[in-house]
Amino acid sequence: MCGIIGYVGKKPSSEVLLEGLKRLEYRGYDSAGICVDSPEGFKIIKSTGKLKNLLAIVPPRPFGHNGIGHTRWATHGGVTESNAHPHTDCSGKIAIVHNGIIENYEKLRELLKDKGHSLKSDTDTEVIAHLIEQCYKGDLTKAVLETVSLLKGTYGLVVMHQDHPDMMVGARNGSPLIMGVGDGEMFLASDASAIISYTKQVIYLQDGEIVTVTPESFQTMDLDENIINKDIDIIEWQAESFEKAGYDHYMLKEIYEQSESIVRGMKGRLDRTHATGHLGGLNMTTEELLKVERVVIIAAGTSYHAGLVAAYLLESMAGIPAHAEIASELRYRNPIIEKNTLYFAISQSGETMDTLYAMRELQRKGARVLGICNVVGSTIARESDGGVYIHSGPEIAVASTKAFTSQMTAMYIFTLIMARLRNMSFEDGLEFIDEMEAVPEKLKTIFKSAPKIEAIAKKYCHTESFLFLGRGINYPVAMEGALKLKEISYIHAEGFSAAEIKHGPIALINEKTPSLFLVTDDRLHDKIISNMKEVKSRGGKIIAVAAEGDKDVYGIADDVIEVPKTVEYIYPFLMSIPLQLLAYYSALELGRDVDQPKNLAKSVTVE
Ligand code: M6R
Repeated sequence: MCGIIGYVGKKPSSEVLLEGLKRLEYRGYDSAGICVDSPEGFKIIKSTGKLKNLLAIVPPRPFGHNGIGHTRWATHGGVTESNAHPHTDCSGKIAIVHNGIIENYEKLRELLKDKGHSLKSDTDTEVIAHLIEQCYKGDLTKAVLETVSLLKGTYGLVVMHQDHPDMMVGARNGSPLIMGVGDGEMFLASDASAIISYTKQVIYLQDGEIVTVTPESFQTMDLDENIINKDIDIIEWQAESFEKAGYDHYMLKEIYEQSESIVRGMKGRLDRTHATGHLGGLNMTTEELLKVERVVIIAAGTSYHAGLVAAYLLESMAGIPAHAEIASELRYRNPIIEKNTLYFAISQSGETMDTLYAMRELQRKGARVLGICNVVGSTIARESDGGVYIHSGPEIAVASTKAFTSQMTAMYIFTLIMARLRNMSFEDGLEFIDEMEAVPEKLKTIFKSAPKIEAIAKKYCHTESFLFLGRGINYPVAMEGALKLKEISYIHAEGFSAAEIKHGPIALINEKTPSLFLVTDDRLHDKIISNMKEVKSRGGKIIAVAAEGDKDVYGIADDVIEVPKTVEYIYPFLMSIPLQLLAYYSALELGRDVDQPKNLAKSVTVE
């Protein structure tokens, strides 16, 4: 979704802002703009489309020392230059960038018009600039404070005023905003990626906080003007991990990184002495863990699929009733909070509004919610009652890949802990650890099939529709494969339980609609083979992702991708990789924007 960068300091601000916006591109956007101070007043430059359009019209010589920049993902008002941020007041002296949605903007707009303000865009954001103008009596911080008290909705906001050079005011409610502390310079940004090449010292603003920033100082307060002392955190990620490192796309890099990110997610968390796991951040005693009678996982998109896999594993391995739910659905169905139910909110970004608000609703009703997040300091990570960082490193491509396997890794370790507290033997615990530790090497074997997967992608990518079919713990992996393909290649794809197709989807089968089957060599193997035959006999083309050496698939499938043999519960890790690569190569062949697919955003901070 929208990205924000603000800068005060000695560097040429146009350069800092453009660099920051480049780093924010991954969030998804459809227009961009900057406002930079200059002796002649603010220079505002905006453009629709990709950042290269903006770069083409920004003077080549860096200028300014203070400025704000924004990438906009349209919500209110179309993708036009006038709707792009920054927005200004009537005088042109106040400029703002904003993430979030102002729900009462229509009413405010009318009010402002009645007071003689002239608004130039269709956005909800512009009303904020005019409200600040209305409230301003020489003190910018006070004007912003007064303004935000009139707003209903969400905002991450950065404001500058021509009469206050070297000053920015930021405010946060529901949309992330962090401050970067440099040496004689300060930053405000929607996420760390925008500022990491300048500073690793950050302050995470909370909802209801406002900050006034100059190159040398900052002051944080709440909306009642009480000063709040904030701790400076250090970002652990390296600036280089935001680069493509020689890969053509972030997505491909992130697919290949999985053999390392899974290792990072397990590091120090597997205990061979007691054949169990350790997840310090859970903040739960053994007694509390033993009291857990049910686990409910809430999440969206790919994280939801990781939750489905985890729920399956928790039930089958730890004997705990568990299910995963789409966060946005749970939030609005008045969920019943049972005593001794433990909740998890899984979110790569830690900012997904559907998941965050569902979590808050659960907490409001007294539930304990643990967060499984990648982004350190993200809202879900901070507001959850405990949790685990998955340590997959920054995930830049919109299509989530390495976060998926890292989320599963964290939940697998949690399952091991719970199983070992209940019914799992020491030997079985050790075997579980062995199998988990063997995953990264097995992934490397699968990567060797990339050329074959690329050829298969080229063969099938001109189809209009694709089915992904799996059973048991691999059914959610089939759903994930379909999501991956549709979001980046724009081919219609659905994931089903292979057994379920005879109840409807089989009507779609014809020679033009390929079906991809996940064929494991476990107790469900023969059932899946039967499901494949049902498709084959109706003229459907079949791709099988199968355990190596499975002779049964060759007689039926048109194309086979082999993965190393493993135990039933490890297959989701292995089966995901060919599906990610298939989606990647299909999108590439079709000339899609792999890392920033149309209409999508990396961090979905609206409902
Ligand atoms: O940051 P989150 O994990 O909460 O994001 C949830 C979904 O928006 C996300 O997984 C989305 O489905 C991805 N684009 C899938 O690749």
